[in-house]
Amino acid sequence: MNTKLDPWSSSEITDYSKLFEEFGISPFDNLLPEIPSPHMYMRRRVIFGHRDYEQIAEAMRTGAPFSVMDGFMPSGKVHLGHKMVMDQIIWHQQMGASAFVGIADREAFSVRGFSWQKCREIGVEEYILSLIALGFKPDGLIYFQSGCESVKDLAFELGVKVNFSELSAIYGFSGETNLSHMISVATQAADILQPQLEEFGGPKPVVVPVGPDQDPHLRLTRGLAGKMSMFRVEERENANGGKYLSVRGKGAPKEALKELKKRIPGKVKLYEEHLDVLQTPDYSFLERFVLQINQPEKRKYFMAQVQEITKFANEAKPPEFLEYEKYFVFRRIWKTTRKILEEVVAEVAAEFDGYAFIPPASTYHRFMSGLQGGKMSSSIPDSYIALTDNPKEGAKKVKKAKTGGCMTLEEQKKLGGKPDECSVFELMLFHLLEDDEELLEIRQECISGTRMCGSCKQLAAEKMYEFLKDHQEKRELAREHLEEYKIVYKK
Ligand code: TRP
Ligand code: SF4
Repeated sequence: MNTKLDPWSSSEITDYSKLFEEFGISPFDNLLPEIPSPHMYMRRRVIFGHRDYEQIAEAMRTGAPFSVMDGFMPSGKVHLGHKMVMDQIIWHQQMGASAFVGIADREAFSVRGFSWQKCREIGVEEYILSLIALGFKPDGLIYFQSGCESVKDLAFELGVKVNFSELSAIYGFSGETNLSHMISVATQAADILQPQLEEFGGPKPVVVPVGPDQDPHLRLTRGLAGKMSMFRVEERENANGGKYLSVRGKGAPKEALKELKKRIPGKVKLYEEHLDVLQTPDYSFLERFVLQINQPEKRKYFMAQVQEITKFANEAKPPEFLEYEKYFVFRRIWKTTRKILEEVVAEVAAEFDGYAFIPPASTYHRFMSGLQGGKMSSSIPDSYIALTDNPKEGAKKVKKAKTGGCMTLEEQKKLGGKPDECSVFELMLFHLLEDDEELLEIRQECISGTRMCGSCKQLAAEKMYEFLKDHQEKRELAREHLEEYKIVYKK
């Protein structure tokens, strides 16, 4: 079965379980307990899947640096679908992420044929004003791809590791696909990797919150992260099944490998192009590794981690060192060692003009359906609510929306409604109701037939009116504060 995910044709995704099986996206559920105070979309399972989000959750818990990155193609009106992504960017920013937002004008130029000027107008007027109005803080970076030298340079460099066969396998590109479209794909990968460049503090976990249609970009970028890196820290297995961490430096300059061997003392085996660090449940070596990290901040951070592990290990030890405790200590040592190695490796790579990208993490959210059922589509104004819709119009659209109710009140009292097939309920679930309890109550009342659609519509329409009114006031405020955001425009 082949579910092609195509970011440029908005195919409807009906069976999310296929995404897990075919593309290696993991269910988000298991992660929930590891996240300090999960976002509404996480609690409500609007975010259903992820790749590598563990590292983001961990960074949030420990205070380690991490980033959130997203892009918007300036194509038309900013609507509730964009708000979903913006909410997630802003939430991560509030949780301590350095935030990056790219306006994908290279993509709009090549795919839509928009002029740079048009991209700039739509970019600011639609997306950026709403992003700021929703709470994006000025310490995050907002840039237009066309104006961002580091992204453009990186895109060109990434191009060395992408060939046409790969693009046609991932995106279905053909002989008719124009070159700029391909360049815009490399640019998007550069968007995602940029937060890990030296000028932004070097390698770190980066999360990209997207809808599943954008997953092809992530698969490409994750592959590129590996291919572009001078060294790779990998978990490997030896002949008798023992696991070990290995640093591979295929193609790395000899001097870089020599330097790395110097910096990682202890049980290090250096083959021609492999550097293996054997793992034993002995943690004294960890401190020696940490001392090889040059950046004082990071060294301090990892030293504290190592001390915490050591303390825990000593406390958990005799008289009874339970199996699960042993395992737990071992996992932590393993993970921390890996992180420390990645740190040292990144520093050495940087010294020798190379990269050390961590493959980007991602989350996947469900799409909202159109207000009339079916898909949201920019060509059907009644199917979606734009953040710039007149509040009265917005409320009206809610009142006209398709619900999961029955044909007659009588029937509904008897059979109950279907909140999961109701676009009004969806609006409340995705946007309008903060309170989980209240939402669950409405759901219950609907199912049991004690709630009628009129009251939901009334409530949702009022909330929508309030939201749009408030948001639009904030947009005007944002307009006045635009200069505080060092937005990078095309020169
Ligand atoms: N392709 C995305 C869209 O169609 C825009 C985009 C550009 C993007 N760069 C990105 C998305 C980086 C996520 C990460 O809207
Ligand atoms: Fe939707 Fe409310 Fe009607 Fe249930 S009662 S179908 S939730 S509008």
